[in-house]
Amino acid sequence: MKQLFYLSFWFFQTRFLGKKKPLQTVLFISDECNLACKHCSVYNHTNPHRKTFEEIKEELIYSYRLGSRFVDFEGGEPLMWKDGEKNTNDLIDLAKEIGFFSTTITTNGQFPLTACKADSIWVSLDGLKPYHDEIRGKGVFDKLCKHIAESNHKALSVNMVINSINYHSVRETIEFVKNNPSIQSISLNFYTPRTLEEDPLFLDWEKRRELIDEIIKMKKEKYPIMNSISGLKYMKTNEFKKYCWITNFILPDKSRFDTCPMQHIGVCERCGYCMAGEMTSVFHFKLETIFSAIKLRMK
Ligand SMILES: C[S@@+](CC[C@H](N)C(=O)[O-])C[C@H]1O[C@@H](n2cnc3c(N)ncnc32)[C@H](O)[C@@H]1O
Repeated sequence: MKQLFYLSFWFFQTRFLGKKKPLQTVLFISDECNLACKHCSVYNHTNPHRKTFEEIKEELIYSYRLGSRFVDFEGGEPLMWKDGEKNTNDLIDLAKEIGFFSTTITTNGQFPLTACKADSIWVSLDGLKPYHDEIRGKGVFDKLCKHIAESNHKALSVNMVINSINYHSVRETIEFVKNNPSIQSISLNFYTPRTLEEDPLFLDWEKRRELIDEIIKMKKEKYPIMNSISGLKYMKTNEFKKYCWITNFILPDKSRFDTCPMQHIGVCERCGYCMAGEMTSVFHFKLETIFSAIKLRMK
């Protein structure tokens, strides 16, 4: 009840009074990673940044004071994070003590998930085995499936980033999710280039539009797709007003951004993050999106 009150108040302040106040935080706790995925640049195998517990505590308090109430622990691989005796579960407890409503971890699924205390777990799944392993490395898919099957977590979903390698696997991956009792839903994103250069992983717009039409069709057929229909429609052209300041970001090098850091690189036109469209849908009061966001975040 208290949480619903806060959310209504936040909506009123931001939508009607024009206040720019984040509701969620993407907090990179390190850039240490055990993989080197083809589409990702957030890993540092030679000299990784590893934040201490105290540094993360300070960043959580800072974000909470800005107004944020949902935190996603990101990396690198967040499940590799340690500071002395402390591990990611201590960060989750800490976030809850500070007052965050809900915590999320985004992981590559290469470590056991049974002990993970996050309210929701997002496992990255970039297609079925041949595609996932081509992007993330040999044997990664099988390990991920094993850890998902053993996890027993009530809110585990998968996150797919569609690119020019794996776009053929979208339908079968959604089918796989539907038939896997350990997975709640799938969120579908498109690869976002990190520079303004030509990028062979970027999926061309025509294929993107065709795929989104197919995803919308599957969503209407009740496949467990997290994206809302209005959010998906926005992603077809990317020509919509964005409200990415709803999330604040703190990067592995501790730099703080009050909106998506990619905005500063100027790649928003080719953005493929579904959250951009979802946030716009929430802001335009699309009830379907609001209800699915509440369902996803609040228990
Ligand atoms: C940076 S990773 C870190 C967490 C964890 N190691 C993992 O693999 O899920 C977080 C998410 O960002 C996605 N991602 C990385 N680079 C991306 C890009 N250029 N465009 C879209 N999504 C990307 C990954 O696929 C993953 O789902």
